[in-house]
Amino acid sequence: MSVIVDVVLGIQHGDEGKGKVTHHLLKSGDYTHCVRYNGGCNAGHTIYHEGVKFVTHHIPAGVFFGVKSIIGPGCVLDVHKFLAEIQMLKEGGINIENKIYVAKNAHIIQEVHRWMDHDETRVGTTRTGNGPCYSDKYGRGGLRAYQTKELQPYLLDMYEEFYIHQPDAVVLCEGAQGFALDVDWGDYPYVTSSHCTTAGALLNGFNPKSLRKIYGVAKVYETYVGAKSFQPANPVFDKIQNAGEEYGATTGRKRQCNWMSLDILLKAVQMNGVDHLIINKLDVLEEVDEWSVRLGESLLTFQNKDQFTNYVSQYLSGVEVTFSGSPHRI
Ligand code: IMP
Ligand code: MG
Repeated sequence: MSVIVDVVLGIQHGDEGKGKVTHHLLKSGDYTHCVRYNGGCNAGHTIYHEGVKFVTHHIPAGVFFGVKSIIGPGCVLDVHKFLAEIQMLKEGGINIENKIYVAKNAHIIQEVHRWMDHDETRVGTTRTGNGPCYSDKYGRGGLRAYQTKELQPYLLDMYEEFYIHQPDAVVLCEGAQGFALDVDWGDYPYVTSSHCTTAGALLNGFNPKSLRKIYGVAKVYETYVGAKSFQPANPVFDKIQNAGEEYGATTGRKRQCNWMSLDILLKAVQMNGVDHLIINKLDVLEEVDEWSVRLGESLLTFQNKDQFTNYVSQYLSGVEVTFSGSPHRI
């Protein structure tokens, strides 16, 4: 017996709709565990569960289905926000009893980290203390979950869980942010401080041979929140921003918009071993009814949706591509 791991990851700048995809996959009932593998409360996952909207920052979507949900050692945790999120889920009628765990060796976002990040302007962070916490982790001055009194009831050892107690586990690993924000492969320094790649999931203690299926999540247009200038001057992007309600789930900031970059998408698919790509928010471009993609320095424009989707699918041949046009389902 050995553990099976599927991964869901964002392959643009975050906010691609990973929460929806994870929620959809968990519905199958195939998974015993759901693990968040990177990032902290900089992430905001919007999930519609039984018609009710939930925004979570730390806790993986498995909790909505009674699946054991773990905040992995690749993550950083804001204890107050974590406890508040548990309360929010309880009040929303979600049964969380014995379902939420934190890896013993995850790192804790401390007051000093929040303070250092609170007026950050260079990168345009979410100001949640994420970067300074990872700095301390790698500088070996950090605080781990097991050293925190309030977290004692939630602690879990990844080795014991997956190699001793439940070697037959089927795990869905849920990534935060996206490949274009990855600390190594994103547009440094306009990146987050964690590993948003498929490899980042493995860093949480999974054997590379345990990988089964890799789901990449993208949007039909791109959005970015942060300090660099990203949105070209063209009123179509204001239309997309409005139609797509592109505001950050964590900070409420306006997300800058641009056409999807196909060659960068292909790079992300290749480097992360994506087998199945879900491209969200087709309904938004239908509403705006303009169809373009970037390819290198060029802009390709199409007459209609079918021409657009055919071109994209052909460009990405070799990967199973699904276009989704609903916030509630795939
Ligand atoms: P940090 O992760 O808060 O340090 O922010 C670094 C960069 O990542 C900034 O450009 C943030 O806007 C961006 N970022 C962090 N988390 C998310 C997310 O969940 N969605 C979109 N952008 C994010
Ligand atoms: Mg988000």
